[in-house]
Amino acid sequence: MDYHIRNIRLAPEGGKRVAWAAKEMKVLSIASRETGGSFFQGKKIVACLHITSETANLAIALKSCGAKVVLAASNPLSTQDDVAAFLVKEHSIPVFGIKGESSTQYYENLRSAASVLPDIVVDDGADLIALLHNEPTLAVNVRGATEETTTGITRIKNLEKAGKLSFPVIGVNEAMTKHLFDNRYGTGQSTVDGILRGTNILIAGKKVAVCGYGWCGRGVAKNMKGLGAHVIVTEVDEIRALEAVMDGFEVMPLREAAPFADLIVTVTGNAGVVGAGIFLKMKDGAILANAGHFNVEIDTVWLETHAEKKEEIRPLLMEYTMKKGKKIYLLAEGRLVNLACAEGHPSAVMDMSFANQFFCAKLLSEEDRMTPGFYRVPETIDRNIAMLKLRSLGVSIDSLTGRQKQYLRSWNL
Ligand code: NAI
Repeated sequence: MDYHIRNIRLAPEGGKRVAWAAKEMKVLSIASRETGGSFFQGKKIVACLHITSETANLAIALKSCGAKVVLAASNPLSTQDDVAAFLVKEHSIPVFGIKGESSTQYYENLRSAASVLPDIVVDDGADLIALLHNEPTLAVNVRGATEETTTGITRIKNLEKAGKLSFPVIGVNEAMTKHLFDNRYGTGQSTVDGILRGTNILIAGKKVAVCGYGWCGRGVAKNMKGLGAHVIVTEVDEIRALEAVMDGFEVMPLREAAPFADLIVTVTGNAGVVGAGIFLKMKDGAILANAGHFNVEIDTVWLETHAEKKEEIRPLLMEYTMKKGKKIYLLAEGRLVNLACAEGHPSAVMDMSFANQFFCAKLLSEEDRMTPGFYRVPETIDRNIAMLKLRSLGVSIDSLTGRQKQYLRSWNL
């Protein structure tokens, strides 16, 4: 079996971590048990996901239903090396990913995973889907793919608009049981967790600028406020900016917030949010972190080329000394701070995201071949996951009476 991991001897630690995550992933477990059987028999599923304990549970669930599963990391800094070792050693699941690998190695790993010629692709950020479009000989067997995150969905929709999307892709991020919970509560909590583990600063009393008030930004802003920060939101969308105002946040352009913000967190899915103009305005000692999918939100190349000196003063916390001695601190090379400095989203929330991945992969394997295009997660899957999650939490809800259903169908009251 071909694989590329740090050290197979880390497996026992990884096993403990995967078992701990499984306790909070009841929906995924019900999904693989109740739907049961071997409906993935003979199918090769290649997944490009953050190699975490939650991903391990998804991979094990897919394999338990007959799939041959291969995993590649979806970020050079997000791999949990002990989890990768556990999957290889105890489950014979090939993993390609090492925390801290170079960009070149990252793309080599993707190619190695894709070289098994997948039937089904599970992606996070669309790097694997892009590779399969650039090298179509690797995509000869692909029945379809699923995409986990907002940035990946943007790329897929652009690919479709360009008339080049060559297989069906289901946008898992668009399921309500994904973005409403994973992006908001998952990124909200784990981004703060990453910043705290990376810096150990006190959040209370700090001025924190959150760039982007989308699903993730709302979560980050709320959690920062909960810890006592004075939160400023920056936006380019008038509706979301208005929502931030009414949620009680100060809203202003980033160039106005930069001179006094102690911490700037980008979570926009856009490029060049913090560039030269902002670096020059930032106060001495300010910290930068990114939770958006790619390391393009903060212009790290500018920092690298304009700093007089740089020094890693804590793991993954770089101190840049600028001209005249001003210090700027950057977490995790501008990559996903919640995965690089912490452990990513809590398992309870990944449970729903990965249940969506599981059911959509099942759909792609069972359906007659779907035509190329972008697809939403069927509402039946979405609602079933919500129901299973409620059940796993011991929560029951009311149901509509016959009279209420009739009332909601009427117009002449
Ligand atoms: P979203 O589309 O709901 O929100 C993004 C917001 O950023 C929008 O309101 C947009 O108007 C705003 N924005 C765009 N350019 C901006 C700029 N220059 N300045 C200020 N605001 C700007 O997207 P969502 O779901 O919140 O995702 C954001 C990013 O986070 C994406 O890259 C996504 O893939 C990633 N993500 C990261 C996760 C993690 O674990 N760190 C988990 C889920 C998503």
